[in-house]
Amino acid sequence: MQVFKKDGHTIYNGDAFEVLLNEIDDNSIDLIFVDPPYNIGKDFNGRKDKWATDKEYLEWSYSWIDLLIKKLKSDGSLYIMTSTQFMPFFDIYLQSRINILSRIIWSYDSSGVQAKNYFGSMYEPILFCVKDKSNYTFNSKDILVDAKTGSKRKLIDYRKNPPQPYSTEKVPGNVWDFPRVRYRMPEYEKHPTQKPIALLERIIKASTNVGGVVLDPFSGTFTTSFVAKTLNRKSIGIEIDEDYTKIGLRRLSILKEYNGEKLEKEIRTFETKKIIEQQTLALFEPDGTQLYKTNQASIGK
Ligand SMILES: C[S@@+](CC[C@H](N)C(=O)[O-])C[C@H]1O[C@@H](n2cnc3c(N)ncnc32)[C@H](O)[C@@H]1O
Repeated sequence: MQVFKKDGHTIYNGDAFEVLLNEIDDNSIDLIFVDPPYNIGKDFNGRKDKWATDKEYLEWSYSWIDLLIKKLKSDGSLYIMTSTQFMPFFDIYLQSRINILSRIIWSYDSSGVQAKNYFGSMYEPILFCVKDKSNYTFNSKDILVDAKTGSKRKLIDYRKNPPQPYSTEKVPGNVWDFPRVRYRMPEYEKHPTQKPIALLERIIKASTNVGGVVLDPFSGTFTTSFVAKTLNRKSIGIEIDEDYTKIGLRRLSILKEYNGEKLEKEIRTFETKKIIEQQTLALFEPDGTQLYKTNQASIGK
C-alpha cells in the first residue's frame, strides 16, 4: 500500500478493505460515495470485474459495507451504487443497518449499440442513506434545478392562498439525467466506468459542507476526490490499480511525476489529428512565415 497526501487530500493505492480496516478512523467521514466493481465483467486494467459466484461477490460487498458504516460520522451520508441486478441485494442488506432515504436512478441516453432482443439498460441505481434520519446534512438550496412545467408556462398555482406563480426552481427528484462520460468530453480519462463530474457535484454539494471529509473507497479516476477539491471539501480516495492511482495523483495535483514518469493526460486520437492539421497549415502560409512551430502546438491543457 502507498499513501500520498497534500492539502487535505489523501490517496491510497491499495485494497479498499485493508485500507478501511487499518487506516481510516471510525466515525470520521461526512460523506461516502461508493462505486464498486459491479460484477458484470468489465476490464479494470486487466483486473476482472467478475466473481466466481454471485454469493462471493455479495459476501465481499457486505464486508466493506459493514466497515463503511462504521467509518461514517453519526450525521454522515452514504451513496452507494452497483449494477441493477445486484442492487436489490444491497438494498435489503442495508435496510436493517442504515436509513435509506432515496432510491435514485441515474438515467442516460446512449447513442451506442443497444440491445435488440430485450430492453437495454439505460440507467444505474444509487441508494442515498443516512445514519440518523433526524440529523444529517442536506443543502437543498445548493442543488436546485429548473422547475420546468409550471413556471415555464407562467402558470399560477391556485392551490396557494393568495394564488402565486409556480416557482422557477425545485429540489431534484430521484431520477437524474446526466450524460455518461464520453471520449470527446474534456473530463474524459482512460477508465471504463468513469462517473461524470456533474453527478458528484450534486451529491457532494447536497450532503457536505465546506471543509467536510468525503471518502471514495473505489476511486477509479478519482472523480469524487477531484470534485471534493473543487468544492473546497477534503477527500480520501482508495484505488487498487496503480495506473488509475496515477490519474488521481495528477487530477488532484498531488504529484507531477511518479517514479520518474511525467504525469500527463493521455493525448486522444482527435487531439493528435488537430496537431497534424496545425502543422500542415503552417506549410501553406502565403507570405512564407510559419504560423505554428511544431513544438508550439499545445493540447489537452
Ligand atoms: C466502478 S470503478 C470506479 C469509477 C470511479 N467512480 C470513477 O469515477 O472513475 C471501480 C474501481 O474499483 C477499483 N477496485 C477494484 N477492486 C478494488 C479493491 N479491492 N480495492 C480498491 N479498489 C478496487 C477498480 O480498479 C476500479 O477502478
